Amino acid sequence: MKYSIVYSSRTGNTALLARTLRDVLPEENIVSFGAPNEVHTEADMIFAGFWTDRGSCCPEMQEFLRGLEHKTVALFATAGFGEDAAYFERILSNVASLIPKSCKILPGFACQGKMPEAVRSRYEAQLAANPDDQKAAMFLKNFEKALAHPNEDDLKRLKAWAAEITRPDGK
Ligand SMILES: Cc1cc2nc3c(=O)[nH]c(=O)nc-3n(C[C@H](O)[C@H](O)[C@H](O)COP(=O)(O)O)c2cc1C
Repeated sequence: MKYSIVYSSRTGNTALLARTLRDVLPEENIVSFGAPNEVHTEADMIFAGFWTDRGSCCPEMQEFLRGLEHKTVALFATAGFGEDAAYFERILSNVASLIPKSCKILPGFACQGKMPEAVRSRYEAQLAANPDDQKAAMFLKNFEKALAHPNEDDLKRLKAWAAEITRPDGK
């Protein structure tokens, strides 16, 4: 099986997941590693990683996924919000719906990823303007929680996921 690890990452969270996958997958099976606009046609199986952009993936990754044919695809993602597994599943299935029917889609992986400080400042300004703004308070709390992610446990779960979906009898 030839693998490609294709990812988009603005601030490094998804890139960390991609590098971790590269470290755990057998080196001889990895035929390409990089951004969606690079060439990944040789692979049978694509690990496609994205940062969550308004509930989906960024336009470059959308275009890449829409163009796939007869590949096995495993999505991995980071998202700023991470309160429940259902949220991650929703994002993964939104993005999976972009992938053409000729492809086989494996169960995906997602974890929380820290957000830039500018986001905190925005929530703080909202709270300063309206101290009763429950939503801004909740977003601020989530921001703080996200700062620790992806953490060691996320990477451990990522590795276990990769081992599971690449098991010869696991697909
Ligand atoms: C423009 C923009 C839109 C975002 N939209 C979402 C979103 O809809 N849901 C979410 O959970 N996180 C959202 N995030 C947070 C990022 O997906 C999250 O911080 C991610 O881990 C960033 O990954 P990266 O470091 O690989 O770029 C958004 C971030 C940006 C900059």
